[in-house]
Amino acid sequence: MCGIVGYLGKKKAVPILIDNLKRLEYRGYDSAGVAVIKDSTLVVEKSVGKLSKLETIVIPKDYPSTIGIGHTRWATHGKPSDINAHPHMDCKGEIALVHNGIIENYLELKEELIGRGHRFLSETDTEVIVHLVEEFYQGDLLEAVRSAVKRLEGSYAIAVVSSREPERIVVARKDSPLILGIGEGEYFVASDIPAVLNYTRNIWILENGELGEISPSGCKVYDLEGNEKKKETMVVSWDISMAEKGGYPHFMIKEIHEQPNALRETFRGRVGVDGLVRLDFKNITVEELKNLKKLYFVACGTAYHAGLVGKYLIERFVRIPVEADIASEFRYRDPIFEKNSLMIVISQSGETADTLAALRMAKENGVKVVAICNVVGSSIARESDDVLYTYAGPEIAVASTKAYTSQLMVIYLLMLLLAQIKGTLPIDKIKEFVEDLRKIPDIATKVLEDLEPAIIDFSKRYYKAHDVFFIGRGLDYALSLEGALKLKEISYIHAEAYAAGELKHGPLSLLEEGVPVICLATQGYLLDKMISNIKEVKAREAIAIGFGIEGTEDLKDVCDEVFYVPKVNDIYASVITVIPLQLIAYYMAKERGCDIDQPRNLAKSVTVE
Ligand code: M6R
Repeated sequence: MCGIVGYLGKKKAVPILIDNLKRLEYRGYDSAGVAVIKDSTLVVEKSVGKLSKLETIVIPKDYPSTIGIGHTRWATHGKPSDINAHPHMDCKGEIALVHNGIIENYLELKEELIGRGHRFLSETDTEVIVHLVEEFYQGDLLEAVRSAVKRLEGSYAIAVVSSREPERIVVARKDSPLILGIGEGEYFVASDIPAVLNYTRNIWILENGELGEISPSGCKVYDLEGNEKKKETMVVSWDISMAEKGGYPHFMIKEIHEQPNALRETFRGRVGVDGLVRLDFKNITVEELKNLKKLYFVACGTAYHAGLVGKYLIERFVRIPVEADIASEFRYRDPIFEKNSLMIVISQSGETADTLAALRMAKENGVKVVAICNVVGSSIARESDDVLYTYAGPEIAVASTKAYTSQLMVIYLLMLLLAQIKGTLPIDKIKEFVEDLRKIPDIATKVLEDLEPAIIDFSKRYYKAHDVFFIGRGLDYALSLEGALKLKEISYIHAEAYAAGELKHGPLSLLEEGVPVICLATQGYLLDKMISNIKEVKAREAIAIGFGIEGTEDLKDVCDEVFYVPKVNDIYASVITVIPLQLIAYYMAKERGCDIDQPRNLAKSVTVE
C-alpha cells in the first residue's frame, strides 16, 4: 500500500503535493518523492525516510512548477532506498510515474524491456510501467498509458507526467484506489479522499479499468477502449480526521474492513497457471524444503497465534513435527535445534525484539530462517534468509487485525507448497485447496456484510461483562486465543481462552450463571466433542455463544445464540471466523468508551525485550 498524489493548477505544485502526501502517510512512510515539470524538463526529487525528510530537501528549492505528481511508499518489491522510491523515470528522463499496487508479471516484462534496450535502475515492480509507457509513446501520453496498462497483470493506481506534454497528467486504476479532486481551476489526483480535502470536496472516484487525463481545461475519464465516461461528482462532508480513517471512527475498524483486500493482495501472484502454489524463495532451495524434518514457528502475541494455526495445519497435511513458540519463551529455554529444520518467524512490524533475538539464535545454530513479515526492509526481513511478505499495507491500530489474516494467508500457501514439494497431498487435492483459498477474500467481504450488524447488537448486550471465556478445539483453540487477546487488549474485559477439552481440568470452576462463553465450533471432525463441552458450559448456567459454519444446525440446540460464517473448508474457517471476533472486541470496546486505536500500556511495535 502506497499513497499517490498529483496536482495541476495555477499554484506552486510542490507545497501542495507535500501537504497532500502528509495525509496519505498512513498508507506508507518508508520513502517519498515528487516529480514536477520545470521549463519543459522533468525534475524528480526523492528520498528514503519519512516525508519530512523530502520536505526539507524540496521546499527550500521553491520550484515554480504548477504541475506535478508525488508518492509516499510502503515497500513491496525492493527495500526502502532512494533508488526504489517513486517517481520512476523512463530511459530518456522524459516520463515520470508514481504507482500504488503490485505488478505480478513485472519480471517477464522487465526481461522483455531489457531485451529492447531499456535500462532499469531500481528493484521495483513499478519501473516496468514507466518503461512500457516509453515503449508505446508516440506523442500522446494517454494513448501510451492505455497501451501500457493493457500489458499489466496485478493491481495499480498510477499517475504519469511527461516533459513533452507539460500540461497533462494521465492516471489509471485497477484494484488500487484512485480519486480525482475537482477544484476551481485546479485539479488533484490522490489514492484517497483525505489527501485533497484541504483544497476541494468535489470528488470523482475512478473505477477499475478507467483512465483519466487532467489538463488546464478539466478532467476527462475513459474506459480502456478510449470511450469517454461521464463521472458523478461526490461532495464529501467528512472532516479530515474522519477522512484519514476512510470515514470510519477508528483505524482498527478501517483495518478490519481492509481484510478482504489485504488477503487478495497477499494471495496475488503466488499461484501459477497450473493452479499450484509458487512462493518466491531466494536462498532456501526446493531440495532443502523437500528434506525438511522439522519446523519452528516463533513469534509474539497475535503473530504467535498465527504460528499456532501453522502448527496444526502443517502437522496435519505435511506430516512433519512443528513447534509453535512464544519468542520470549523460546529464546530462554535452551531449545534443541535439529538438523534439516527451518524456523519461521512471524511479525507484522519486523522489529519485535524477542522475535528478532530468536531469529538470530536460530541462525547462530545453523538453522535457516524464513520471515512472514509486513514491513519491507525491517530488521526481521533483512536478517532472515528469506521473506514471505504479507501485503496488508501499514497497520496503524495497536490491535492487529489485517496483519493476522494476511499471515494466515501466507501460512496456508506455505502449507500447500510444502505438501506439493513433499508429496503429502495428491496434486488434485492441492489444486482444490488452492481454489478454495482464492475465494476467501470474497467470503471475508460477505462475513463483514452479514455479521457486522448482529455483532453490534450482541456487543450492546454484553459489553458490561467482567469475564468472557473463549473455548475451541484444534484450529478453534488457536482462534480462541486470538479472540480473547483481541478482546482483553482493547476493551479491558478479562478474557481467557481454553482448549475446550481442558475445561473440566480446572477452568470449569470459574463458570457460573450469566458468564458469556464464546464457543468456537468450526471444525466438523471435532463437532461432537465440542458439543459435549458446550453442554458442560450450559450445565453451569453460563451463556453459550456459538460460532460455526453455515449448516451446523446442531449448534442451535446447545447454544443460547449462534453466529454462522459461510460454508468454507474447515481449514479456512479460522481466517473467516476471526473477523466476527475482531468485531466483538471492537464494538465492546467502543461501547465501553475505550481508546481503541491506542489501548493503555501498549505500543504497536515492541522493540524492547
Ligand atoms: O509486530 P509483531 O507482529 O511482531 O507484533 C507482535 C505482537 O506485539 C502483536 O501481535 C500484539 O500482540 C498485537 N497488539 C495484538 O493485537
